[in-house]
Amino acid sequence: MPEYPPGAALTTPAATSVAGPPHRAPEVLSAAAMLAILRRHLFAWLTVTLLTPLGGIVALHRITPVYTASGMLIYEPAEYKAQAMQSVLRQDPATEATLASQAELLQSLHIAQKLVERGGFDTDPEFNPARRPPSFATRLFGWMARDPQPPVSGPAPDPNRDAMLLAVHGALHAKPVRFSRVLEVTFTAQDPLVAAAAVNNAMDVYIKDQYRAKARAVHRATEQLRSRAEELRRETRKNEDAIAAYRARLGLFQGMHAGIEAEQVTHLTEDLVRARTELANAEARLDAARGKAGAGAQAAVAPSVVQLRGQQEQLAAQAMARQSRLGPNHPEAEGLRRQAEGARKILAAEIARVVASIEAERRAAKDRVTMLESNLRTAQAEADRIAKAQIPLNAMQRDADAARAELQAVLLQIQDTAQKAAVETAEAHEISQALPPRQPSWPPTGPLTMAACAAGVFLGLIAVYGLHLLDTSVSSGSDIRDATNLPCFALLPEIGKRALGHLRAEDYVVRRPLTAYAEQIRSLRASLRFGAHRPRVIAIAAARPGEGKTLLTLSLGRSAKLAGESVLLIECDLRQPKFARIFGSESEPGLSDFLRGTATIGDISRPDPWTALSFIPAGRSTGDLLSLFMSDAMIKLLDTAREQFDLILLDTPPIQAMSEARVIAALADAALLCVRWRNTPRAVLRHAFDLLRDTHANIVGTVLTRVDPKAHVRSGAADSEVYHRRYRPYYRS
Ligand SMILES: Nc1ncnc2c1ncn2[C@@H]1O[C@H](COP(=O)(O)OP(=O)(O)OP(=O)(O)O)[C@@H](O)[C@H]1O
Ligand SMILES: [Mg+2]
Repeated sequence: MPEYPPGAALTTPAATSVAGPPHRAPEVLSAAAMLAILRRHLFAWLTVTLLTPLGGIVALHRITPVYTASGMLIYEPAEYKAQAMQSVLRQDPATEATLASQAELLQSLHIAQKLVERGGFDTDPEFNPARRPPSFATRLFGWMARDPQPPVSGPAPDPNRDAMLLAVHGALHAKPVRFSRVLEVTFTAQDPLVAAAAVNNAMDVYIKDQYRAKARAVHRATEQLRSRAEELRRETRKNEDAIAAYRARLGLFQGMHAGIEAEQVTHLTEDLVRARTELANAEARLDAARGKAGAGAQAAVAPSVVQLRGQQEQLAAQAMARQSRLGPNHPEAEGLRRQAEGARKILAAEIARVVASIEAERRAAKDRVTMLESNLRTAQAEADRIAKAQIPLNAMQRDADAARAELQAVLLQIQDTAQKAAVETAEAHEISQALPPRQPSWPPTGPLTMAACAAGVFLGLIAVYGLHLLDTSVSSGSDIRDATNLPCFALLPEIGKRALGHLRAEDYVVRRPLTAYAEQIRSLRASLRFGAHRPRVIAIAAARPGEGKTLLTLSLGRSAKLAGESVLLIECDLRQPKFARIFGSESEPGLSDFLRGTATIGDISRPDPWTALSFIPAGRSTGDLLSLFMSDAMIKLLDTAREQFDLILLDTPPIQAMSEARVIAALADAALLCVRWRNTPRAVLRHAFDLLRDTHANIVGTVLTRVDPKAHVRSGAADSEVYHRRYRPYYRS
């Protein structure tokens, strides 16, 4: 389908008369389309964009500013000071949590209560609701509020004081400064002096509370330690008494008693071993003396016996020798025998003496062994008894030692605590006092103004988009094409009052032939004339009243007439006739009279005083008007007109309401559809188009009427080019 830009469409494709609108893909707004929408609703956008920040600024000025004073304090517990020099890089996991806890303490209700107690807030209506004038709601519904019931027990409730407390609590804030032991305390109030004083008071209360709490803790700890020391003292004394009593009962001596017993056993054991050795020696010597161990051993033990034995054996040998030589009875032999006997007896007596002496030695050794064994047994029994008795004693001793050691430790602790308490300071110190702030903390005028500007732009865009969605009217040739697939032959501008001056709109095309309006009419004529089939009878139709049908009929007819064509205008809108008034002629007889057969063509046809074109007014509007138009007379009238005129224009009533409009359009060679710019809804246009198509009218195209050229140019529509200011020199008003 060829494009028909206004003033350039020279063909009239018949195919468009029956074709429906093309299938449209879902609308995706390109940047250009969005810009066009923005330009179209520029006024709305600017209004919202400017009013929003303006409203914001007004609102900002109505807000009472508040000031936030800020002070700093550092939290340094005693251990931290001690550890601080050890390693600055060492992580202290408790720090963050501790500081957060301290911040909570600082902004606690307790501190708020102390602030209220220190005064200054009672007279301040910002914090004391009793000082505020009653609100509108209170004045209105105050009588409904019930007096609080007195409590069954405890202090009477004071809602004002509670509200004041909560207000102060809400204004007080504390937070740790990151990566430090510093706490920032802030207070927000309408008066900067009140804010600064509140911060300083809060820090002061907190530090003093800290100190008091610490002193209390030290005192409590000292008291506890003292009572524990007393307990331990008593316990130690009891233990020592018990040990002493036990010792006395079991006959245990203090000190090295257990050691002496063991030593005695050792000595006795050694003595016993020695005594046993001596006994064994005595027995060995006894055996030797008796000769059991041989002569050698005996000689070692008793040398006198060996000598006597030798003498005795010598005498016995001599006696034997004399006896054998001299005979047994020889006196010499006998004497020798007696001597030998005597020597034997002496020997025996010597042996007995030696044995008796060694025997006595052995007995003495044996008695000593027996005595030592008995002593050892006694000593061992005593050592065992003492060792057994020592076991509970040891336990008692241990208990006593432990109690003593603990007592010692507690006494040291008491000493230490007392020393610390003497040099105790608070764990937090003020490092910067709060000064009255100069700038309000709320509202942040700069950012809020910027935000309001941004919101204005954004809301403006939303408003534009909303208007775009709500706007279903036709506002350009391409809108018409989208809705009906019909070309738009012309965009007739709205003739403003200033441009019109003393003229009538109907005469404008004649009196101002060089204007854009007249040019658009000529453009329309060109489009109609140079189409594939030049229509001679054209019905000027529109969906609704006031779309400019009559004015277009007149303008088109007069323009064609001025161009030398023979033109006939027939007013087919019998219900709202205007021709008679416009042309200043009689309204009757007119078309209806001819159709009823009560008048001839000559009776009803009149000349235009300006251009001398012929027109037929509507005539009387009675009876069944539709039948009149469907009559043969109408066809005959048109046939006759075709023979006499180059162009016959039929001014019709609105299609939506009047059925004769469709009949007239069907009788004509072509139908031209007027669409009022930014007024006719797309759906209405589409419906009118369908109605005409259903009656097989030959709809050749459309005309956009009453266009506001400036607004149209602003919208950036493709067909707005014709009204661009660069074409102004081409027109004259
Ligand atoms: N382009 C225009 N510039 C200025 N005024 C216009 C324009 N078009 C129409 N009008 C004015 O609008 C009013 C209605 O126009 P017109 O009578 O032509 O519409 P209509 O479609 O014929 O209406 P109806 O169906 O009621 O007959 C008239 O007062 C007319 O002067
Ligand atoms: Mg009209």
